[in-house]
Amino acid sequence: MYKIKVPATSANIGPGYDSFGLALNLYNEYIFSLNNLNKFELTIKDMKSNELYINKEDNLIIQTADYIYKKYPNKIDLNKLKVEVKLNYPLDRGLGSSANAIIATIYGLNKLFNLNLDEQIILKYALNIEGHPDNITPALVGGFTISQIKDKKVSYHKINVLNKLNILLFIPEIKIKTKTARKVINKSIPINHVTKNIANASILTAGIINSDLELIKKGSTDYIHQNNRLNLNPKLKLLFNNILIKTNSAQFLSGSGPTIIFFSNKNLSNLKNIVKKEAENIGIVNCLIETKVNNKGIIIEDGDKNVERLN
Ligand code: HSE
Repeated sequence: MYKIKVPATSANIGPGYDSFGLALNLYNEYIFSLNNLNKFELTIKDMKSNELYINKEDNLIIQTADYIYKKYPNKIDLNKLKVEVKLNYPLDRGLGSSANAIIATIYGLNKLFNLNLDEQIILKYALNIEGHPDNITPALVGGFTISQIKDKKVSYHKINVLNKLNILLFIPEIKIKTKTARKVINKSIPINHVTKNIANASILTAGIINSDLELIKKGSTDYIHQNNRLNLNPKLKLLFNNILIKTNSAQFLSGSGPTIIFFSNKNLSNLKNIVKKEAENIGIVNCLIETKVNNKGIIIEDGDKNVERLN
């Protein structure tokens, strides 16, 4: 039996479309074990411990298990597989739940069926399933990661983030599928916007390295995806803009949205109150989660509670 904990992630962080990702101190938990029922058992419990049914087309645990099985049919018996999942944040809200499930499943099968997959091959398979690397790498290794695809391989640079940054997640009761949110991105981007994104992404990276909130703010504007995605939901856009005017905070659409991630170097209670009031006025049902950056990444415990970390 293996217990696998994979952190939530926030991809893009403004100008770092499909490249930047940040791991958060918020884990989904997976238990992988062998059964003798001669069928694949999967149970998923949500934040309130209610059982959740996700059909096959949307179920990345099933899809990933099938994908890995096809690679190693002689080593894996899916009819012996039992997976129990405890979700600690909602799905389809821009917090990397897809990459989370993919990474957990590859790792679970790797351990349970002794596949001996190394990090590069795990990243490769995960990329093939997910399509972009920016949630995958921080889910695996933690921290702030800059991912790159070169010769169809994922490579990344990890930056350990100082724990000075406080993070607030505004998670609306709205689901946005990444597929839908990728369709609204313009096929070509004007050169002056590309230039601005390069400058902002570089300044933001310097800000993350130094946990310097002013630099993070200075580099926060994105010209590739964020605005088009906020346009998908006028209420969310209004809230995003009103809070920016009121607080001048470092804030981003998390991944493809709709979650908004706020960074602060102060206690979060003031910001939290402003966000709560604004959401109430505009009428967006939501939940707020306070968290921190996670520099550890995936955690694997075997039945004897030996803990393994990648880094
Ligand atoms: N980089 C991806 C996107 C993250 O913005 O579409 C979402 O999974």
